Amino acid sequence: MVEKILKKMMQEEAKVSRRGLLIGAGKVAAGAAMITAGGLTLVSETEARETKYPWPYKKLDPEKVARIAYENWYKEYCCYATASAILIPLQEAVGEPYTSFPIISTRWGHGGAVGWGTLCGTLTGIGIATGLVAGKDGEKILNDVIYWYTQTQLPIYTPGQPKTKIRNVSKSNSPLCHISVGRWMKKEGVQFFTPQRKERCARLSADVAVYTVELLNAWADGKYVPVHGSQAKTHNRPAQNNCVDCHSR
Ligand code: HEC
Repeated sequence: MVEKILKKMMQEEAKVSRRGLLIGAGKVAAGAAMITAGGLTLVSETEARETKYPWPYKKLDPEKVARIAYENWYKEYCCYATASAILIPLQEAVGEPYTSFPIISTRWGHGGAVGWGTLCGTLTGIGIATGLVAGKDGEKILNDVIYWYTQTQLPIYTPGQPKTKIRNVSKSNSPLCHISVGRWMKKEGVQFFTPQRKERCARLSADVAVYTVELLNAWADGKYVPVHGSQAKTHNRPAQNNCVDCHSR
């Protein structure tokens, strides 16, 4: 009798933990559990292979990426715009594990992290995407994208059907949302909550996503060579380059 109860308890436990792993924690955790649980096979080998990090990349069409970034800015803002511009086409071209990634979870990056004006959300979105796609190489790509962002007159992208006309481009000299958008607003002569500022950020999202995809495509061909050095090593601390924007001489 005791044996019977014990056996039943063990069966129940096995059921619960299996369900917990598969439904609660999702496929990635199940893949990991397959290794830790040794002989206990919870997922097929194919499934486990699919979760290998970084995830597979297929070269993307920059024009399509630009369109998604621009349109998706108007849905969930900058961070989602750039992350989705890369990850949606990969969901279509590659499928799993991209299809299981809830891209909407990147939304928080808007306004330099929920409006705190820190890292421009377009760059946060790129960091999330390049992290999934290229692992440590993704950091080099992000580093180059941030440098380019600070040095380039933006926005460049002109949508087929612009939602609003804007007149100015500006060089941010900084990866910070506050400084970048502030410089452009001053030049354009508009406030933050205006159709023009929204249009600027939507177009800029397209630019950042396109530049990233150009680097990722080169990387996929084995032709990517990082250009920008380490910020922390250059300045002996993590830093931006626009020292005198904040420090008086
Ligand atoms: C976005 C604004 C900003 C930028 C850009 C910036 N800093 Fe700072 N930095 C600060 C602030 C704010 C502090 C804290 C100062 C304090 O509390 O006295 C600080 C602190 C420092 C400190 C430590 C305090 C001290 O005076 O010893 C050093 C050194 C420094 N920054 C150097 C730099 C250098 C070099 C650069 C450019 C490579 C740079 N900073 C860019 C805002 C900035």
